[in-house]
Amino acid sequence: MPKIKTILAIETSCDDTSIALIRCSGSLKNSGADLKFEVLKNIVSSQIPIHRPFGGVVPNLAKREHIKNLPIVLKKILKASAEGGSSSGGKSLKLKADVNYIAVTVGPGLEPALWTGINFAEELSKKTKIPLIGINHMEGHLYSNWLPVAEVKSQKSPPKADPPPEEKVKSSAVKFPAIALIVSGGHTILLNMKSINKWEKLGETLDDAAGEAFDKVAKMLKLPYPGGPEISKLAPKGNSKAINFPRPMLNKPNYEFSFSGLKTSVLYYLRDQGLKAQSSKLKANVAASFQEAVIDVLNKKTARATKQYKAKSILLCGGVSANKLLRERLQNTAKELNINFIVPDFKYSVDNAAMIAAAAYINFLRKNKKRLKIEAQGNLTI
Ligand code: KG4
Ligand code: ZN
Repeated sequence: MPKIKTILAIETSCDDTSIALIRCSGSLKNSGADLKFEVLKNIVSSQIPIHRPFGGVVPNLAKREHIKNLPIVLKKILKASAEGGSSSGGKSLKLKADVNYIAVTVGPGLEPALWTGINFAEELSKKTKIPLIGINHMEGHLYSNWLPVAEVKSQKSPPKADPPPEEKVKSSAVKFPAIALIVSGGHTILLNMKSINKWEKLGETLDDAAGEAFDKVAKMLKLPYPGGPEISKLAPKGNSKAINFPRPMLNKPNYEFSFSGLKTSVLYYLRDQGLKAQSSKLKANVAASFQEAVIDVLNKKTARATKQYKAKSILLCGGVSANKLLRERLQNTAKELNINFIVPDFKYSVDNAAMIAAAAYINFLRKNKKRLKIEAQGNLTI
């Protein structure tokens, strides 16, 4: 019987207050093929309406909201798990008796926001005597690819009598070496994963992250914050070939990215259009052409790395992995190369605590003692 660990994870690196309770089992043997993460509960309390009027996240407002939300979200998690039922896998769980580890994001992220989570987790750990694991947010995104995906309901198959909370374990689908593209609001990183817990960084962005570029271009188009989802909603109404925006770094023989120049090109283009820039058709064309430029670079660089390192899987994660066109493009690349494509369920693409719990379990398996305590600063890089 595999050993089961139950982990309570806390994520407050940006503007989402999230706590998750996850039951984890399996080992790192055979590329982690038997790893299993059962998400008993994952609550994300979004602060979007609070930050929207400011066009972006205001760190001190985020801190205030996290402080207010954390005890409320924890109460909800504990209430649901104490009551048992489907959200708890049918079993009643108690914090002190049943939770093996508390995990908390220690960075990278907004420092005032991170510290609210770290302080809350430390206090909870002291009170309950449950050991604490500090987790890197980017590692969380990476391991979101091992969380279950909701089963796609087929019209033909009859409904199951008693379906598990959310089950479609896919960890065995990840074959190594694998190329992982992590694209979020703060980072754009390409990794060559030699195994589930060993990787080398092939490249990252030299300036703006992909998500940051989406957010800034959305602002230029007067779309609300957060801009990524708004651009991806508007883009299908436009023509992606209408404007030939630059593909920064595409032809450089490395795996670095740069999106700042692309963002400036959009700014100049809109300025040159004068009053025409207000037209909804033009805005849709800009959204579609900008999105195409970003995705083209991400896809082609990932494809090149996949071929160079003879990867057997492509992994995509981070908030921008919620972008359907990016998913489609990388899925096609993987298909052409006859390898696996892995992407988290949409709810685990954007920030959530479930991914922090998954990363904590893998750190526990790695016996990563260093991570068994909180790092002083929240600015770790992967
Ligand atoms: O990982 P995440 O939730 O937070 C950070 O760790 O930064 O990523 C947030 C980023 C934001 O820049 C947001 O605009 C972007 O992910 N994003 C998207 C989409 N959904 C979220 N970008 C493009 N298309 C989307 N559908
Ligand atoms: Zn994130």
